[in-house]
Amino acid sequence: MKKILSLLVLFCLSTTAAHAGLKVIGKGDSMRLDPARFPSAMKANYEIMRVKCVKCHTLERTIVAIQTGVAPISGQIFDRNATKAYGIKMLRKPDSNMNKAEVKATVDLMNYLLNEAER
Ligand code: HEC
Repeated sequence: MKKILSLLVLFCLSTTAAHAGLKVIGKGDSMRLDPARFPSAMKANYEIMRVKCVKCHTLERTIVAIQTGVAPISGQIFDRNATKAYGIKMLRKPDSNMNKAEVKATVDLMNYLLNEAER
């Protein structure tokens, strides 16, 4: 019985860990994500976001949008239907220093993160 109980506890602990949502590190301007549990494709996409999406503002803007489902500046809905439009909007900003492939990588990542944040 004791063994079954401890197995149950272990099982619950591991499912909580797997459904813990987004792991965010730091606050404000130093806010970032911990990509350790990301699938490898998303790790690569995060590297692109970490370099390309901080030219004009910090990652906080993107992370808050994903966590809350609301784009923090415009107050518009930020869901999987909206990520591509935001990506293109950022690409078109003057001197964005991104190409389409890089933006697509970050859009894929945002969609993945929105799924994770829902859990
Ligand atoms: C060339 C500068 C620049 C780059 C590079 C940039 N952004 Fe932005 N971003 C802005 C500006 C300016 C705003 C202010 C609101 C607006 O214009 O949409 C903004 C706003 C945002 C918002 C909030 C939008 C809202 O409506 O509240 C999000 C989310 C965002 N950026 C994500 C990203 C992501 C993801 C990337 C990388 C793919 C990125 N940004 C790269 C300039 C940039």
